[in-house]
Amino acid sequence: AMEVSLRPRYLHEYIGQSRVKENLKVYIEAAKMRREALDHVLLHGPPGLGKTTLSTIIANELGVQIRTTSGPAIERPGDLAAILTNLQPGDLLFIDEIHRLNRSVEEVLYPAMEDFALDIVIGKGPSARSIRLDLPPFTLVGATTRAGSLSSPLRDRFGVVCRLEYYTVEELTQIVRRTAELLGMSIRTEGAREIAVRSRGTPRVANRLLKRVRDFVQVRGAGVITLEAARDALDRIQVDKMGLDQVDHKLLMSIMEKFRGGPVGLETIAATIGEEAQTVEDVYEPYLMQIGFLERTPRGRVVTPRCYQHFGMEMPR
Ligand code: ADE
Repeated sequence: AMEVSLRPRYLHEYIGQSRVKENLKVYIEAAKMRREALDHVLLHGPPGLGKTTLSTIIANELGVQIRTTSGPAIERPGDLAAILTNLQPGDLLFIDEIHRLNRSVEEVLYPAMEDFALDIVIGKGPSARSIRLDLPPFTLVGATTRAGSLSSPLRDRFGVVCRLEYYTVEELTQIVRRTAELLGMSIRTEGAREIAVRSRGTPRVANRLLKRVRDFVQVRGAGVITLEAARDALDRIQVDKMGLDQVDHKLLMSIMEKFRGGPVGLETIAATIGEEAQTVEDVYEPYLMQIGFLERTPRGRVVTPRCYQHFGMEMPR
């Protein structure tokens, strides 16, 4: 319950992603002026950057209800039909992990998105007929960590496509200060900044680290999150100066120590560190590439000189 109330509820409370925010503001205002449903919106980018939060904000700004589901949760066409026929005019349907919808469900979605229509097949074999039901106009907001995995017919049906980017240290510092205030914690700007620096550009990580720092400060400290207190707590929970945790270390060290820096295949890396390939690809790698520690090449993953430098290791020749 606490987690939910920490999230911003309106665009003006939402920090960062300024381009996305400004554009959405216009589209929302225009839809409201025309008294129409907002066009369908695709939000894509790495995990933890605020796709779910933004979809809730879009619904709040529009003044409509939000229905939330996910790609894997919609197993059969009938599951989706049940959701669609229960929407009120203008409602927002949020489908998280939309790249994981199966093909038969996706096909129900096309006419629903394009014409607000549901095609239902009655009967079987040669006497089967199709009838078309009208749906209320609605807004689909789809979220995905991998826009490249969407089929092109699905991708093409979104009128608005927003790519979320990693946050700057300044933006994350503001987010940490905001969250700390909501939690009733006293925090110094340098303390907030230290948490921000180690949050891999990701608000979800920043808010999680803030809560752990708070635990140390409340139990062992003076109740104020200073630079020293933040450093001490983050060192204890083994999040390094670049925000890399134990899994990142294991991943990068194994490429450097076992594979001479690469190239090495994704599946091999995943097996070596005991994670799923998809998790490595969607969760760990994007930030490591963003900071220039890892590169994807046609022959596999390669760590960079900068990565060797960070770990104080010699590059193999
Ligand atoms: N909490 C998590 N993400 C946020 C954001 N982008 N703005 C404000 N608070 C947040």
